[in-house]
Amino acid sequence: MEINYQETAKDLLVRIDIHEKYGSRNIDQWNIEVLNPQPGQQILDVGCGAGKQCFLYSDATQGQANITGGDFSEELLGKARAKLAERGDQNIAFQFLDFNQPFAFDDNRFDFLSSAFAIYYAADLDFTFREAHRVLQNPDGVTGKPGGRLFVTGPLPENKQMFYDIITEATHQPIPPMPGSSRFKGEIFQTISGIFAKTELLTFENPLTFPEVEPFMAYVRASLSEDRKLWTSLFSGKDEYEALIASIEKVATHWFERDGKLVMTKVIGGILATK
Ligand SMILES: C[S@@+](CC[C@H](N)C(=O)[O-])C[C@H]1O[C@@H](n2cnc3c(N)ncnc32)[C@H](O)[C@@H]1O
Repeated sequence: MEINYQETAKDLLVRIDIHEKYGSRNIDQWNIEVLNPQPGQQILDVGCGAGKQCFLYSDATQGQANITGGDFSEELLGKARAKLAERGDQNIAFQFLDFNQPFAFDDNRFDFLSSAFAIYYAADLDFTFREAHRVLQNPDGVTGKPGGRLFVTGPLPENKQMFYDIITEATHQPIPPMPGSSRFKGEIFQTISGIFAKTELLTFENPLTFPEVEPFMAYVRASLSEDRKLWTSLFSGKDEYEALIASIEKVATHWFERDGKLVMTKVIGGILATK
């Protein structure tokens, strides 16, 4: 399946900022609890965007792990490199990586490979997760060290229900299929468990409480913006986009006046697998 997915740096950074400001739980902390990165480890983050997870692992290991971030967006890699230059970490490298192509790494190299809200857009899941499996370390029968781990996070179908309900009420149209949430628990979990020795599904819930309509609308704009291409069945061109935003704002304002706040719960799945 070919998925036309594009992410602009600005939209991604707006959404990350809103999660941090209005969320009550910290997904980074969950990420670290699950993976427990250690000094000396070889780590790969696929679809690294502006480098969020790479910087997180570097901080968690006091700059002592060897971290590679890969993404196919030169714009986002540019942001990641600018932040790296500002921070001065010597142990992180950002490089071009298209997860629909063979990964440019030797077999049996990484202690863990993570991919946050990214790799589930892969066109051929079997191909991409076999590449992930190949570059992870083999289990060591002599020392008993387990194989490398894969950690893939993405939205579950119950994610952001209120966001979709408001859009449905505003448009009276079906929500276009979201490649992440519609595939995560089924196809993606099954593909990974068919390749890896052990696979489990973890969940993380984070309610975002908006004390006014404006930041919710900033989130809506950063999600629906024309550049992301996922939502274009609901509008064509700038005028229709603005009309859609106005009708969503009207419904959101009505919900806000009725309930006194807007609460959108992110429901995230984490697939943790061992080679
Ligand atoms: C929602 S963003 C997540 C970025 C980052 N992991 C984070 O959590 O901030 C999805 C990322 O997947 C990247 N991406 C999409 N398709 C890709 C592909 N075929 N190969 C590599 N990266 C891809 C996008 O460029 C974007 O950086």
